Amino acid sequence: MIDTMDIQITKIKHSKIHETDFDNLPFGKYFSDHMLEANYVDGDWGSVTIKPYQPMIVEPSMVAFHYGQAIFEGIKAYKDKNGHAFIFRPYDNFKRFNLSAERMQMPVITEEIFIEGMRMLIEIDKDWIPAKEDYSLYIRPLMIATDTSIGVHASDSYKFLILLSPTGPYYANPMKIYVEEKYSRAAPGGVGFAKNAGNYGGSMYPTAIAKQQGYDQVLWTDCVEHKWLQEVGTMNVFFIIGNKAITPSLEEGTILDGVTRNTVIVLLTELGFAVEERKINIDEVIAAYSQKQLAEVFGTGTAATISPIRELKYRDFVMHFDTSTWKTAPRVKKTLAEIRERKKEDKHNWLFKV
Ligand code: COI
Repeated sequence: MIDTMDIQITKIKHSKIHETDFDNLPFGKYFSDHMLEANYVDGDWGSVTIKPYQPMIVEPSMVAFHYGQAIFEGIKAYKDKNGHAFIFRPYDNFKRFNLSAERMQMPVITEEIFIEGMRMLIEIDKDWIPAKEDYSLYIRPLMIATDTSIGVHASDSYKFLILLSPTGPYYANPMKIYVEEKYSRAAPGGVGFAKNAGNYGGSMYPTAIAKQQGYDQVLWTDCVEHKWLQEVGTMNVFFIIGNKAITPSLEEGTILDGVTRNTVIVLLTELGFAVEERKINIDEVIAAYSQKQLAEVFGTGTAATISPIRELKYRDFVMHFDTSTWKTAPRVKKTLAEIRERKKEDKHNWLFKV
């Protein structure tokens, strides 16, 4: 049960929805009319407001800018054919957000603000949920450290925000992926499992190098042997080998506990696959490819949903896949879309009604 929260709502005078081209929505470029803001001061969350989306005035000495106490989440909302709005598995993101907060020495957010605040915000801006296939309203909760002092310390004050962005597909086409051997994303004991801004900042240089070579993203490997596979770019990764679906396990704490990853594990299991969450190294992938056993490789994530990989490069060895012949990833993607659009029964209670 979510408590009723004290929230101040100020609505915009003129919506900008008619200036937004809903047939052309690049990922994360446009924002809805309103945003939610809450502030953590003196050990408590308060001053919760929903107000017009607007710039923030902050001081340049703010801790988040200097020492990276900044975390976020990615969630999606959809509309069914009757126009009812639903959020996909927001409680899972709520739990992960608070795990990230704990690891970054930030305060946990309350369920009222994260879940009920999000619900109220989407109720106000529900006309911004695109109705088109592969489109959704991307929800971006974030928390930043707002103390204004540049001594290295955990901030005492924080700001929590929720932004809404009507959006199209993240990757329009199957991807080319480069197996990264020089740079690392995460190490055991580090922050790889947390959705903190620095994990993404650190990925930009290796990704830019991969892009110069014609690749879309890198597949991260462990930081010691550079053989054990972690995650790909902004997504978790799955390998379909025979009747097995293999995805790197979470136990080392080096990869993100993806909500789409978990959803895909459930759906693959229901399709009859033996799903293995375990360590997998590049030699096993190459051996399976060479024996023509490696049927599909794909990434999963909230933004990207399920993204097929058409090329995987490890040193001089390039694996090619004809994604147009695949059966599994498209089937899982379709099932997921049907559940989200309420064309299929939501037997796992993944949909949260707005
Ligand atoms: C997501 O999949 O929601 C992400 O957060 C990935 C990226 C857009 C940062």
